[in-house]
Amino acid sequence: MKVVITGATGQFGKVTTQHFVDAGHEVVAVDRAEGPVPSGIKLLVGDLEDLEFVQRSIDGSDAVVHLAAIPNPLPNQEYGVFRNNVLSSFTVFEAAANAKCRVVAYASSLSIYGTAWSPKWTSPQYIPLDESHPIVYSESYALSKEVAELSALAWSRRSETTYVGFRFPFTNSAQTVMDFARKLKAGDPESSKTAAKILWAYLDTRDAAAALELTCMSKLKGAHAFNFAAPDTMASKTTDKLFSEWHPNTVLRGDFSGFQSPVSSQDWLAEMGYKPRYLLDRSAI
Ligand SMILES: NC(=O)c1ccc[n+]([C@@H]2O[C@H](COP(=O)([O-])OP(=O)(O)OC[C@H]3O[C@@H](n4cnc5c(N)ncnc54)[C@H](O)[C@@H]3O)[C@@H](O)[C@H]2O)c1
Repeated sequence: MKVVITGATGQFGKVTTQHFVDAGHEVVAVDRAEGPVPSGIKLLVGDLEDLEFVQRSIDGSDAVVHLAAIPNPLPNQEYGVFRNNVLSSFTVFEAAANAKCRVVAYASSLSIYGTAWSPKWTSPQYIPLDESHPIVYSESYALSKEVAELSALAWSRRSETTYVGFRFPFTNSAQTVMDFARKLKAGDPESSKTAAKILWAYLDTRDAAAALELTCMSKLKGAHAFNFAAPDTMASKTTDKLFSEWHPNTVLRGDFSGFQSPVSSQDWLAEMGYKPRYLLDRSAI
């Protein structure tokens, strides 16, 4: 399969590009920032707001993995984050439809539910947090992700291309996840607050890359947006205790007396069956 990967020199993109190369796909890497790519792979350097550049990069491909974005609402730069993320996603989705790509798998974000970056403290209404949960953010990054999901839906209505967004949680290497879990266990106040905002959820980047590849190979049709997180948290306290401390108004639907993730990945699991394989080694925290 010929796959274009955007954001290929970013944190997530590097691992994903290597994953697709190792799986034997023909990969075209795209980013506006130069950076190392696996040997034999072409890096096309350009800005994804430029439709002509994007169209040239995507023409002739079977699938697109769209990861490029500014990955947070930078203070005082919300206009730039919104413009970059919304226009680049729209452009990639349009070019993929024009090129008759079979599928676009792209990074949305768990931030869409509003807890991670909203200036005002925001708690989920209930957990497990599923895709039906209301979207109540108040900043540009989450807004850009919702507009990307809506753009995907619009392009799916007028093309044969399938669009699958992933509302990824904190997605990082096993070492970064472990370092964060250790800070939490040690009671570091800044990490504890950040973790409460991201709902202690995590995903190893290798699992994210595997899910993106599976999606590119799948027969899904239309437009979808899935949560996809590890089944446990990064915390050393049980999930019910964490919620009574940080999100006391959240309704707990079910048993959270262990380290269960508050994020439901049920829709994804029911559709695709792939469970995260690279889980935090809790005995080593
Ligand atoms: N890492 C996480 O915890 C996490 C969680 C949820 C969602 N996401 C999403 O995953 C994706 C990748 O995140 P990351 O952590 O690797 O971020 P990153 O900043 O490391 O990588 C993003 C890459 O996108 C490129 N890029 C941005 N705008 C571009 C444009 N207009 N044209 C060309 N290239 C552009 C950047 O140069 C960069 O290399 C993003 O869409 C992000 O919103 C990440």
